[in-house]
Order: sequence, then C-alpha cells, then structure tokens
Amino acid sequence: MEQNISLQSYNTFGIDVHAARFATVHSLKQLRAILRKEQPALILGGGSNLLLTKNVEGLVLKNDFRGIERLKETKDSAIVRFGAGENWHEIVLWAIENGLGGIENLSLIPGTVGAAPIQNIGAYGVELCDVFVELEAIYLKSGRKRVFHLEECKFGYRDSVFKRRLKGKVFITSVSLKLTKKHQPQLSYGAIGKVLEEQSIKKPTIKDVSDAVIQIRSSKLPDPKVLGNSGSFFKNPEISAAKFKVLTAKFPEAVHYPLPDGRFKIPAGWLIEQCGWKGKRVGNTGAHKNQALVLVNYDGKATGKEVFDLAMSIQASVQSKFDILLTPEVNVI
Ligand code: FAD
Ligand code: EPU
Repeated sequence: MEQNISLQSYNTFGIDVHAARFATVHSLKQLRAILRKEQPALILGGGSNLLLTKNVEGLVLKNDFRGIERLKETKDSAIVRFGAGENWHEIVLWAIENGLGGIENLSLIPGTVGAAPIQNIGAYGVELCDVFVELEAIYLKSGRKRVFHLEECKFGYRDSVFKRRLKGKVFITSVSLKLTKKHQPQLSYGAIGKVLEEQSIKKPTIKDVSDAVIQIRSSKLPDPKVLGNSGSFFKNPEISAAKFKVLTAKFPEAVHYPLPDGRFKIPAGWLIEQCGWKGKRVGNTGAHKNQALVLVNYDGKATGKEVFDLAMSIQASVQSKFDILLTPEVNVI
C-alpha cells in the first residue's frame, strides 16, 4: 500500500489531487484481506468518468483484475468473461481479432471493463446492456461474492443499479458478455454509414465498423493524453412531449431524437452551444471547440473545483434559456 500519492496520472481530466492511501488489487484474496482492514473511499478504474474536486482522505483501490476466459461456445456465439481491470478498448480489439462481434461500435471508449456496467456505456447505437450476460462483484462490507444477471442490473441510459442503490457498495471483479459469430453490423447511427460509403465499403466487417467509429470519435473528441477531459460531462436530457412542444415553439431548429416512450432526447451539446459556451475558455478550463459537451483541462492546470464551477455555470445558463436541467454524467468526487 502506498501513502500520499498524486492521482493526476490516474484520472483523464488530469486533476492533481492526492490519495492518503492507494492500493492496486488483482485477486479476490488480496481484495478481501484489504477490505477486512479498511473500506475504500474510492474504487478506481481508468479514471475516465471522474471529476476529482478534493484530496481523497481515505483509501483508493485501483482495479487490476485481469483475464479473458471463453465460458460457453456455440456456432453462433461465445460467452466470454473479462477481468474487470482489463482495458475496455483492448478487449474490443481482442474480440474483433477473434471474430467476435457486438461491441465494435463501442471502440475507443476509455476505461476498464469493470466500470462499463456502472453507467451502461454506450455509443453509436449500441449499449453494454445489448451484449451483457452477468457480472461478479464483491460486497465491500462483508466480502461476500454475488453474481448479478442482466435484469438485476437495471440498466438504463447511462444508468444502472450500481449508480443508485448499490452505489459505493460493491467492487465489480468480472463482466461476462455474449458476443456473436454471425455479424449483423449496427449502422443506425448515420455517421458510420457515411464513413463506410466514402470508403466504398458495401458489406462492412466488424473491423470496418470499428475503424469507422474510431475515425468519427477521433475527429471530434479530444484525446485525454493531449487535453484532459472526461468525455461528455452531462447526460443528454430526456424531456416530455409537452415540454418538447414548448421548446420547439420557441426554438424550431432544436436538434432532437424521438424516444420509444413518446419523450424526446435533446443533445446537451446543442443546448450548451446555443448558450455560447462552445470553445469558450474560463481560466484553465472550458467547453471544447468541437464538442461543447466535453469540458477540458488546459495544460493540466485546472483544479477540480474550477471545472465543477464551470459545469454549474453552464447548467444555470441552459436552465435559464431552455428551462431544461442538465445532470452530470461524470462522477463528481
Ligand atoms: P472510472 O472513471 O475509474 O470510474 C467511474 C465510476 O465507476 C466511479 O464512480 C468508480 O468508483 C466506479 N467504478 C469503477 N470501477 C469499478 C469497479 N470495478 N467496481 C465498482 N465500481 C467501480 N462513456 C460512454 O458511455 N460512451 C462514450 O462514448 C464515452 N466516451 C468517452 C470519451 C472520452 C474521451 C472519455 C474521457 C470518456 C468517455 N466516456 C464514455 C466515459 C468513460 O469512458 C466511461 O464511463 C468508462 O466506463 C469509465 O471507465 P473507467 O474505468 O475509467 O471508470
Ligand atoms: N451538437 C451541437 N454542438 C456541439 C455538440 C453536439 O450542436 O457542440 C449536436 C449536433 O447536432 C450533433 C448532436 O448534438 O449531431 C449529437 O452530438 P454527438 O453525435 O457528438 O453525440 P452526443 O449526443 O453529444 C453522445 C454520447 C457520447 C457518445 C456519442 C456517440 C451522451 C451524454 N454522450 O454524445 O458518449 O460517444 O453520443 O454515440 O450520451 C460519453 O458518454 O462520455 C460520451 C462521449
């Protein structure tokens, strides 16, 4: 166990706060031994969905559970268990190399496998819950192991039971996914089809889809290694049909996506841009020039509080102009 270490290289925002104690865990035996002595103040994966606003006075547990195991195989699919500390993008590439589809649209999402169920990661028409089978977790208080099946995780848009009732109560140690051998590319997200068309690809392989997603993401999302950020800072708000009517009466050009339940999703990036924040810098932080929903840390000099204050100013101006409340996607510590 290490004492008083900087967390700057452990979070993609690059915020320089300290942890009083820090341990990397890679086995159940080791995890249980630690939990008997001290409960963690923070479980850390890749630190890509976190905004650290203060020093962590207790113990930070960095997840390093490894391993890839094929559990069940048929001619059409394979169920594969991934250690929760595996890097998400690397397991996407592993799946593609092994001819297994289903997660290629989730290429290049930073972070670990174990954090993927926390907010049910999603991108380009696919969410983790589409391929999820089960996960294994350890209750922090008792050290007891529990398997959570799909329906028990209560997955929603950027949501799960692990962000609600079980928040801060379990350590996820592995995640099992059902991957396909008969591929049906998911091309509902317009930009993917456009990129494939430009390359004259008519029958895309899973690698083609992954490459297209990587190309689109790289064109608008800043690379955290170059410019600190945590991806989308807020969730895209979902509003009622009545509220949507009021919004479009005033702003007929509002970008929107109808939801199956009759509500509408409004891209937070559009709302933030309309309030004049896109590309605007405030001290060492700001809203990114290509994607207003991504808040950034210039030169690694911003404090967590500076970023949080900017987020609150953005939230207030969107509320005042559109009467829509943006809620953070990023976990603010
Ligand atoms: P961390 O940031 O380390 O942790 C996130 C939360 O999960 C924390 O509350 C932490 O305590 C908890 N946690 C982590 N691991 C465990 C565990 N093993 N057990 C219990 N709790 C745990 N997200 C998307 O959904 N779609 C995107 O397209 C997307 N694009 C992004 C692009 C960029 C450039 C960046 C920086 C982020 C993006 N994200 C996206 C957000 C982020 O990548 C995901 O939320 C990712 O799953 C976070 O993984 P992590 O390991 O870094 O989690
Ligand atoms: N837009 C603007 N101005 C901006 C940004 C976006 O007007 O500055 C509008 C554009 O009309 C654009 C639309 O918003 O067409 C949607 O933008 P984009 O395709 O970039 O996606 P998003 O809704 O901003 C969501 C996820 C991303 C995910 C992409 C692709 C959320 C909160 N974010 O972003 O996830 O990668 O879709 O599926 O749902 C993340 O969660 O961290 C993340 C990056």
